[in-house]
Amino acid sequence: MGWVQRRRDHGGLIFIDLRDREGIVQLALDPDRDPQAHTKAEQVRNEYVLAARGKVSPRPEGTVNPKMKTGAVEIEVSELLILNPSETPPFMLDEFSEVAENIRLKYRYLDLRRPTLQKNMLLRHLVAKTVRNYLDEQGFIEIETPVLTKSTPEGARDYLVPSRVNSGNFYALPQSPQLFKQLLMVAGFDRYFQIVKCFRDEDLRADRQPEFTQIDCELSFVSRDDVMAVMEGMIAAVFKAAIDVEVSLPLARLSYAEALDRFGVDNPDLRFGLELVAITDLVAGSQFKVFADVAAADGLVTALNAKGCATLSRKELDDLTEFVKIYGAKGLAWAKVKEDGWQSPIAKFFTAEELAALNDRLDTEVGDLLLFMADTPAVASEALGRLRGHLGQKLGLAKKDEYMFVWITDFPLLEWDGDEQRHVAVHHPFTSPREEDIPLLDTEPGKARAQAYDLVLNGSEVGGGSIRIHDQAVQSRMFELLGIDAEEAREKFGFLLDALSFGAPPHGGIAFGLDRLMMILTGSDSIRDVIAFPKTQKATCLLSEAPNEVGEKQLQELSIRLRKATK
Ligand code: AMO
Ligand code: AMP
Repeated sequence: MGWVQRRRDHGGLIFIDLRDREGIVQLALDPDRDPQAHTKAEQVRNEYVLAARGKVSPRPEGTVNPKMKTGAVEIEVSELLILNPSETPPFMLDEFSEVAENIRLKYRYLDLRRPTLQKNMLLRHLVAKTVRNYLDEQGFIEIETPVLTKSTPEGARDYLVPSRVNSGNFYALPQSPQLFKQLLMVAGFDRYFQIVKCFRDEDLRADRQPEFTQIDCELSFVSRDDVMAVMEGMIAAVFKAAIDVEVSLPLARLSYAEALDRFGVDNPDLRFGLELVAITDLVAGSQFKVFADVAAADGLVTALNAKGCATLSRKELDDLTEFVKIYGAKGLAWAKVKEDGWQSPIAKFFTAEELAALNDRLDTEVGDLLLFMADTPAVASEALGRLRGHLGQKLGLAKKDEYMFVWITDFPLLEWDGDEQRHVAVHHPFTSPREEDIPLLDTEPGKARAQAYDLVLNGSEVGGGSIRIHDQAVQSRMFELLGIDAEEAREKFGFLLDALSFGAPPHGGIAFGLDRLMMILTGSDSIRDVIAFPKTQKATCLLSEAPNEVGEKQLQELSIRLRKATK
């Protein structure tokens, strides 16, 4: 049984490619052998649902199709049933046709019949199964946590659900099960996991969805290294099962500070070099005012050497300049290394000694392209770091079938939010500072490092976690530092603070973005290609047309009056 991919008539003989999730098989209908089935076959169109009975036979000599998995056989049909006809589909259901994404999303059930999405969904199932088996073997217990709950801050806006029976009150959908998994540790479950939907109302990008799936884990009586070791094992098991890749363990580690110095970002793609090199000291005294001024203002002048890229055109260099502006950079200086020295708008500002020192530090050879960025350390690192990633893609330095993992460790605990004029948590408010940095909370909180870790794969943050605060006093102090006063802390997180006072074990955990992992495992460019029913960049579902307006009666039941009248 299956769907008609294609029907071909060959002077009396009819061939039907019948498709199901395993692939395609050819039905052969001969008017002489079985006139009844043949007559029915004449009515068949693409995407009709058929049941066929017959004999699996070798194809006649000369008609074998070696490109097809079932190309050596066909089914000589003796009985044919049309189970359901179909309208002509809005696009061809094969892997080749390029179809506009809005059409694919509107008819997602048809898009899902196509081989690529079928493969992605089957692989996603295999990954989830491998995760469950691995974690079960490691003593983890899968426990569900509520979806109608209280705000769980992970740095995004909440989705709210109005309560009918408690009029005027709202549930929040969880941004993650963070607080409940910590409560499960207090309850003594020791090792918990869940493959779970999380909800975040944030600006969407190619690797973000408003609802997405985490592989969420929490463990008691563990150190950071314990968590990392168990989770590396899971990642290795997944890569082996899903794409037969041996991941060599332990995975590489890089401190947050070193990641920023060398790659400008905390999610570096390590499939290629192009490392950033600070040159502030070499240009501080130069005649190039932009660099000298930035150096004098405690800024950062950083550079990268794009080996062999002196061939880039003026237009391409202008495009790179436009690219860095997205990240707040004011400009991008460049130099092409030629036989007779630098060809560059800024070469004239440097002395022979300065040029020699720069060439030495940047390890230049004829044919290289040097790119320079001067700004505050934060802007210069990020802008040149993003440019590094962009160049890696543009120059094809990043191979799709290479998998470079790196743990980023030693994140700062807090960062200063200039708009809000207060500290915010870099990971989340429940992350523990390093033991030795706890005294810094009272003196220089901005210097405290967190016991947090991210797993980065090919430049994508696929997971993040931390050791948590299990001491009520430290948690209260942390809320204070985040500008949450005692009253607000009680109102929002009273249940957590109470739980911490009843014998909370030391604990920590991590969550992986299953969708992001699947993007990499399937080689997809869009997160939507690994989710059965995804949402658009505007957080809508083109298939069901959610979100939609609701009727006055429903609003009344919820005691809601809209500011803008419904149409
Ligand atoms: P975090 O916020 O880092 O940590 O989320 C964990 C992982 O989830 C993925 N992710 C997303 N994937 C798709 N769309 C999104 N909008 C999205 N947001 C996040 C990322 C990310 O690494 N409770 C903590 C985990 C912990 O501390 O145990 C948390 O949620 O791959
Ligand atoms: P100007 O002297 O302003 O014409 O700049 C000379 C070159 O330096 C141009 O290529 C600019 O794009 C570049 N430039 C300007 N500001 C910066 C900066 N902050 N960092 C790096 N390059 C810059």
